[in-house]
Amino acid sequence: MSIESADSGRAPERARPEGGDNLVLTATGIVKRFGGETALGGVDLELGELEILGLIGPNGSGKTTLVNCLSGFFRFDAGVITHQGREVTKASRVRRARAGISRTFQTPRLFKELTVDENIAIGSNAAGRRTTAERDHVEALLARLGLFDMRREVVARLPYGYQRRVEIARALASRPSVLLLDEPAAGLNDAETAELLELILEVRHEHNCAAVLIDHDMALVMKASDRVQVLDEGKVLFVGAPDDAFKQKDVVEAYLGSTA
Ligand SMILES: Nc1ncnc2c1ncn2[C@@H]1O[C@H](COP(=O)(O)OP(=O)(O)OP(=O)(O)O)[C@@H](O)[C@H]1O
Ligand SMILES: [Mg+2]
Repeated sequence: MSIESADSGRAPERARPEGGDNLVLTATGIVKRFGGETALGGVDLELGELEILGLIGPNGSGKTTLVNCLSGFFRFDAGVITHQGREVTKASRVRRARAGISRTFQTPRLFKELTVDENIAIGSNAAGRRTTAERDHVEALLARLGLFDMRREVVARLPYGYQRRVEIARALASRPSVLLLDEPAAGLNDAETAELLELILEVRHEHNCAAVLIDHDMALVMKASDRVQVLDEGKVLFVGAPDDAFKQKDVVEAYLGSTA
């Protein structure tokens, strides 16, 4: 795609998820204001089943706010959200989590004084009464994430990279259909980021899960994502193939902070 076609703000060939009829999550016209400030000014998002959608944009463009709206952490001023064909616009975050919308946080929100195992039990909503199948699932997750040997360790004592993994394990414990990852690579070193990429790519097949991936590590986002969506000042600038995003003049300008 050439710069000249940037005005449309779209890459039509990949603007829609593959298998576009099977959308696991949709957001339409999401508006979120904080006092006088409009953080999201009518944002749409479509996530296909098993798709990985990279959500990128400069600081303050509205990425976390959108995830907060999708996961039920924020009420919003206008718009509709559906999950697996059902409207969840007004559903609480607990109902959305139970329905299969799971998330991690830009800054990990773990119970630091509890063990890895206990943190994950909270994520699986099992309230201490896990079935054998659930226990097997959690053990497999712990093993896959390299956390098995430290499952009885208090989270506060783990290195930061492992705390990030605990968050992902907790998010996957409830067998979500949608995983919202808010800057999972922040604070990770190169080797840890490479492992994270492998994990994200596996998730869809091993866990039948689609993902929205927010990160400032462009190499990670470009490698992991089927499509990317670019936000700037609470508006969608681009949706399409990862390789095309930075061929758009307005996307480059947004990142350079010279949209005037
Ligand atoms: N709880 C809040 N109260 C008031 N304003 C907020 C709140 N959360 C976000 N905002 C504002 O909404 C806008 C979007 O913020 P948001 O955190 O969604 O950006 P972001 O794209 O996630 O940025 P970053 O890449 O820095 O994480 C910003 O102007 C921010 O100041
Ligand atoms: Mg953010």
